[in-house]
Amino acid sequence: MERTFLMLKPDTVQRGLIGKIIGRLERRGLKLVAMKFIWMDRALAERHYGEHVGKPFYEDLVAFITSGPVVPMVWEGKNIVEVTRAIMGQTNPVESDVGTIRDDFAMDLSMNIIHGSDSRESAKREIANFFTKDEIVNYTRVDECWVYPR
Ligand code: RTP
Ligand code: MG
Repeated sequence: MERTFLMLKPDTVQRGLIGKIIGRLERRGLKLVAMKFIWMDRALAERHYGEHVGKPFYEDLVAFITSGPVVPMVWEGKNIVEVTRAIMGQTNPVESDVGTIRDDFAMDLSMNIIHGSDSRESAKREIANFFTKDEIVNYTRVDECWVYPR
């Protein structure tokens, strides 16, 4: 199974949407294998968003992601990066496909509810930024055999 890093952003926590978003991922058949509830400091935010250093929106991005608690998570599934990026929708909620998380819950590019790794390589790096190996839990969901044929 492949893994990805997803994080519910401060707008999701403040708007009481944590359960709704996690519920959508769960019901799709994706498996939660690690989760925290934290308030990121600037150092962690800079490590996480290192790829965006120097871009015009970088400072606002770091300010937003450190403006309140967030929910970093690791999820497992087949083709998990592609599947989660599709569920999330386009970066800008105005352009997000109907039915995606960002289309259903967001109105602005800066407050777009959820972060998701955009490749297997970034997933690996981002997971390691937030979780140690011991914090990722191995288990079988009882419905796995009804989500993926053997
Ligand atoms: P994310 O990393 O949050 O999952 O979003 P993404 O891959 O769809 O977008 P990315 O290009 O990685 O940008 C990271 C976050 O920065 C904000 N952003 N603002 N003002 C702008 O032009 C601009 N571009 C990106 C968004 O909040 C985006 O989620
Ligand atoms: Mg990104």
